[in-house]
Amino acid sequence: MPAEPACSPLPAHVAIVMDGNGRWARQRHLPRIAGHRQGVDALRQCMRACVRRGVGVLTVFAFSSENWRRPVPEVNGLMDLMGKALVREVAELQKNAIRLYVVGDRARLSARLQDGLRRAEAGTAGGERMIFNVCFNYGGRWDIAQAAARVAASGQDMTEAALGRALALAHVPDPDLLIRTGGEQRISNFLLWQSAYSELYFTDTLWPDFDDAALDGALAAYAARERRFGRTSEQLAPPPQAQGAAAC
Ligand code: FPP
Repeated sequence: MPAEPACSPLPAHVAIVMDGNGRWARQRHLPRIAGHRQGVDALRQCMRACVRRGVGVLTVFAFSSENWRRPVPEVNGLMDLMGKALVREVAELQKNAIRLYVVGDRARLSARLQDGLRRAEAGTAGGERMIFNVCFNYGGRWDIAQAAARVAASGQDMTEAALGRALALAHVPDPDLLIRTGGEQRISNFLLWQSAYSELYFTDTLWPDFDDAALDGALAAYAARERRFGRTSEQLAPPPQAQGAAAC
């Protein structure tokens, strides 16, 4: 049985595939890395907007297990951007009481970057207003495989619950709303396990252009969805004596 989140028109957990940086740059005759830099600005804006609206968890896909296949200069540029953003944004995260988790396979990252991740996480550990997961060198298949290996090594039975506890995002509930910008309609090895019951929202807006209004569009679409978790619509309707109570 999937865990069912509280019935609310506001998603407790929003996850985003931030696609379209390269096209945004190309449209302006700029190098791709300029699009990624603009993507960091869009991410800062989105993070602030999510906090203001009361979203409890924001999870973003910043670098996938497959992004190593990109040209070396772009990969190096993204590593550099991550390193710098970690240092630069910690104060902003602390100011907004946001707790950062960097989620993914760190083994292939440079020692310097790994150190930066640890420092940024430690520096924001007191944040209680919103959890911000940055998936970096992350893949849904990697996550399931590493969780399975951990469960097997622990000698537990390989149950849904045991696997769920061993996943890299076990510290947060599953995403209620999964947004993908940039026009493509696929999951691309993002939260394969956790998105089983997420509401999917695809928009043509390129990530650097994803502003507060675009976020509100996604939240409005989510609020209009009926989440049944395997039940029927009739089962979700409030009983007669509860009519007038808050609907979900
Ligand atoms: C996909 O767009 C985007 C990425 C692979 C990187 C996402 C990164 C950011 C938004 C910046 C924040 C990241 C860090 C490191 C803090 P794309 O390049 O595939 O765009 P395209 O589909 O238009 O080519």
